[in-house]
Amino acid sequence: MKRYAIITGASAGIGHEFANQLAKNGWNLILIARRKNKLQEICQQLKQDFSIDTHYIVADLSGINQPQKIYDYCKKNTLNIAMLVNNAGYGVPGDFEKSHWQTHSDSLQVMLNSVVELCHLFYPQMQHEKYGRIINVASLAGFVAPTAGHCLYGATKAFLIRFSHSLNLEGKEHGVHVTALCPGFTYTEFHDVNGTRGMVSKLPKFMWMNANDVVSQGINAVEKNIPFKINGKINRIIAAVSSSTPDWFSRMLFAGKSNKYRKR
Ligand SMILES: NC(=O)c1ccc[n+]([C@@H]2O[C@H](COP(=O)([O-])OP(=O)(O)OC[C@H]3O[C@@H](n4cnc5c(N)ncnc54)[C@H](OP(=O)(O)O)[C@@H]3O)[C@@H](O)[C@H]2O)c1
Repeated sequence: MKRYAIITGASAGIGHEFANQLAKNGWNLILIARRKNKLQEICQQLKQDFSIDTHYIVADLSGINQPQKIYDYCKKNTLNIAMLVNNAGYGVPGDFEKSHWQTHSDSLQVMLNSVVELCHLFYPQMQHEKYGRIINVASLAGFVAPTAGHCLYGATKAFLIRFSHSLNLEGKEHGVHVTALCPGFTYTEFHDVNGTRGMVSKLPKFMWMNANDVVSQGINAVEKNIPFKINGKINRIIAAVSSSTPDWFSRMLFAGKSNKYRKR
């Protein structure tokens, strides 16, 4: 039976790169995002280049019924899901009270609830098959000290890291590998979408990675069943400093720096 990988947020950035690299490795794909034209284009291209089977599902993951819709589509079309890449995400910059509740609620639905629900829907089949790969795209922000602004982002990503780690331990005896992938600043549409491109482009070049390296390291990590992978040496140093120094020190270090790149 053919194996399929689902990738959420596959219309751009890191998700698109996951589609490229998994297609190159022979995976059949189911791509999810809101922009139909992008998904169609990517599916056509990868089908042509790598002779794989491709599907796309247009879904806004802020809708509470969307994970079930994705699962039902796969069931109806008897698609055997052996890999799930929960990648869709974005940041809501600015002060907490300045965004409408709906904006916060949508971001939690996309980056937290839908991730957990998709894992819950697809994990049992992987467990049954004794083969599965789950990558939850978190962030370095889940490791560093809290900063003002972007209140929910770091908290959401920290949740994903802890959740993925627990699921990784559960999956060990069933052949299901689970990894939280934790990139730092990566060249994608992310900072254009949240309107912080001008600010973050002042960051030094060595702070940035490209999606190609982030994704190849993620695929490698899930194959080795590493519970979390922080991309890049600089980011690993930042995470280590943040977790090994007293709270007051890392808060002082990161809060001061992050204020410079904060949208009000
Ligand atoms: N870039 C970075 O510096 C960075 C750093 C750390 C972690 N990350 C994480 O990496 C992941 C991918 O981000 P990226 O950098 O590749 O950003 P990106 O280029 O902006 O791509 C985001 C993807 O998510 C999809 N998406 C956004 N909202 C959605 C929704 N409501 N429903 C369905 N799909 C939605 C977008 O597709 P549509 O617009 O077509 O729906 C797009 O495909 C995110 O989880 C992000 O938090 C990024």
